[in-house]
Amino acid sequence: MKLLAFSLSLRQGSYNRKLIKLVGQIVQTSKVEIEILDLLEYEMPPYNADVQENPGFPEAAERLKKKLETAQGFIIASPEYNFSYPGHFKNTFDWLSRYRPMPWLNKVALFLSASPSLVGGNRALWHLRVPFEACGTFVYPEMFSLATAHQAFNEKDELVDPAMFKRLTDLVLSFLRFSEGLQYINF
Ligand SMILES: Cc1cc2nc3c(=O)[nH]c(=O)nc-3n(C[C@H](O)[C@H](O)[C@H](O)COP(=O)(O)O)c2cc1C
Repeated sequence: MKLLAFSLSLRQGSYNRKLIKLVGQIVQTSKVEIEILDLLEYEMPPYNADVQENPGFPEAAERLKKKLETAQGFIIASPEYNFSYPGHFKNTFDWLSRYRPMPWLNKVALFLSASPSLVGGNRALWHLRVPFEACGTFVYPEMFSLATAHQAFNEKDELVDPAMFKRLTDLVLSFLRFSEGLQYINF
């Protein structure tokens, strides 16, 4: 089984990027293959049905679609922007949802967030569930939100609180078991 992991924050110093890096290390201890994507490599114009008609899908959408087709699921870390997830990703999601079959369909997904706030960006994840579930992704019920993220990492990008790292590890590993179980179902 292969998973793709990516941060919805595009900035280089992003706490969500750091979370995805940790997830990569955790998944590498299992038999599951993981590839980390950088959404900066998949920038696309605002969705416009006229553009889809002619000249067609943007080349970044074509590349991302092909990439999504190589995997059975996703681990996504999102910042919280105004209680929701970043607008650029809704646009990306909408472009990709115009392919048939939709590359989100019958895939699994785990959502994480990190924020300097005490809430940890959790509200963004509830919004993020909606388009994924609408397009047929099995979103894992449990989610992980890292509060006070500006104090949570050391200079090696490790979580300073071992209990928090264990929570993240346990969640990721239980998501992997769920995902592997789902691979036996012939949709
Ligand atoms: C447009 C914008 C809106 C934001 N709104 C929220 C918010 O609603 N809740 C929150 O906890 N943080 C909010 N923040 C602060 C982000 O949590 C903070 O910038 C965080 O570092 C972003 O994640 P990153 O480190 O992965 O880039 C907002 C930041 C921006 C740029």
